[in-house]
Amino acid sequence: MKKYITIGITVCVASMIAGGALISGLNAAEGKDPTKEFMKLYHKAPKGTDPVCKKAVDGKASKAELTQLVAGYKAMCSAKPPKGDDASWKEKTEKLLAAAQALQSGAPDGAAKYKEAVNCKACHSAHKPD
Ligand code: HEC
Repeated sequence: MKKYITIGITVCVASMIAGGALISGLNAAEGKDPTKEFMKLYHKAPKGTDPVCKKAVDGKASKAELTQLVAGYKAMCSAKPPKGDDASWKEKTEKLLAAAQALQSGAPDGAAKYKEAVNCKACHSAHKPD
């Protein structure tokens, strides 16, 4: 997990400096789809527990959890969608990132923003492979 976050951040920083080519190289080297891993860890939770995204909507996510959400959404922003349009993916993931950062900074509208951005169905129907 720690490694994943570090890679996510590295990828994001690299994307600002070097642009797209390097990122796909890094992702390929890691051999993992950051989106898929992220979904399993933060959007879905073992039975009986709340996933981090639900805690965030309820304003109950810890500081550490919000840091992880932000890092994960950053990695998703710079990743390619497994399906669908790049522009639509960018729009959705950037909205998620901005909302998670609003939560992190304690902005009063953070939870409402995040709730709107973390629309499972809207994103899955456009970008999740069947
Ligand atoms: C910004 C887009 C986006 C949003 C929002 C989103 N997802 Fe996903 N999700 C994806 C994509 C893309 C995949 C497919 C990943 C792949 O297979 O490469 C996925 C896959 C999944 C998977 C399957 C993971 C696996 O093991 O293969 C689960 C479970 C999941 N999402 C849960 C959720 C839930 C629950 C929510 C809402 C709280 C949510 N997602 C919101 C984009 C999104």
